[in-house]
Amino acid sequence: MRILITGGAGFIGSHVVDLLIQKGYSVAIVDNLSTGKKRNINPRARFYKLDIKSPKLKEVFKKEKPKAVFHFAAQISVRKSTHDPIADAKENILGSLNVLENCVKHKVKKIIFTSTGGAMYGDAKVIPTPETYPTRPVSPYGVAKLTVEHYLHYYHKIYGLSYVALRLANVYGPRQDPFGEAGVVAIFTNALLIGKRPIIYGTGKQTRDFVFVGDVAEAVSKALHRKTDGIFNIGTGRETSVQELFSALKKITASKQEVRRGPDRLGEQERSCLECGEAENVLGWNPQNPLEQGLRETVDFMRIQSSSMRRESLQK
Ligand SMILES: NC(=O)c1ccc[n+]([C@@H]2O[C@H](COP(=O)([O-])OP(=O)(O)OC[C@H]3O[C@@H](n4cnc5c(N)ncnc54)[C@H](O)[C@@H]3O)[C@@H](O)[C@H]2O)c1
Repeated sequence: MRILITGGAGFIGSHVVDLLIQKGYSVAIVDNLSTGKKRNINPRARFYKLDIKSPKLKEVFKKEKPKAVFHFAAQISVRKSTHDPIADAKENILGSLNVLENCVKHKVKKIIFTSTGGAMYGDAKVIPTPETYPTRPVSPYGVAKLTVEHYLHYYHKIYGLSYVALRLANVYGPRQDPFGEAGVVAIFTNALLIGKRPIIYGTGKQTRDFVFVGDVAEAVSKALHRKTDGIFNIGTGRETSVQELFSALKKITASKQEVRRGPDRLGEQERSCLECGEAENVLGWNPQNPLEQGLRETVDFMRIQSSSMRRESLQK
């Protein structure tokens, strides 16, 4: 089966590409490398350096004739979306519409979309939060993801395009960018490995649901195979506070650093944790990597990466 994946040079997308290629699929990537990295691109995938908003996207669809599209390309920073909602909407709503229009015109059978679980429910009163909980995003990023979910429903009803939207919790693992604005695991790990004090904003008691990227890639693969349409939470159902996360990483990296305290961040959610029974019942998916194990893998990866980057800069 031929698959087209947008955002396949990014953190989550590149893991999905690797898994699909390992499973024998023929994969093409569209990515503008705004946050994605060339080094993440699997050499067995065909790569198009292109913006999803571009009218040239239709040429890629024409050439590739994908049966399924995985739409991961996005502006991923909640903070950026609050600073510039229009720029966020251009990427995350209009860009997605260009992908969807091409899916219909080129007779794609199924689309898989990475939505958000963390930013979809606001400060929910039910924890872990199920998919049936009212969607009340409090950021333009969350609003845009919800809007695309509505468009998916529209294209399904009117044009028969099959879809799965995965509302991802806080994804972490190898290849996450420690210099980006999202990804507390990567940011803390990098700081601890280079001997810097990480900052915890607010009390540190705010909780998140951390899910390992390898588990997310498996969920995407299962969503492709099951004959189902709909929306699924993808997380662990386990809450971990930012303070607990820091302590776990400090132990794994054998660091002596203490945290610096920063001010509360305006509008930051106190608790976030997803109920994932639907994904287990319908997709046959549940997470296989406990937090401690996933964190060790992430730390090992970042250790190797930072020493090879140091070597490269010495050679220059
Ligand atoms: N990381 C998380 O915890 C998390 C949680 C929920 C949802 N998501 C969603 O998962 C998807 C992947 O996120 P990620 O964490 O891998 O981020 P990422 O920034 O590593 O990946 C996004 C990729 O999309 C590309 N891209 C961005 N805008 C583009 C455009 N206009 N045209 C073409 N390519 C473009 C980037 O270059 C990058 O390779 C996103 O849709 C994100 O919203 C991520």
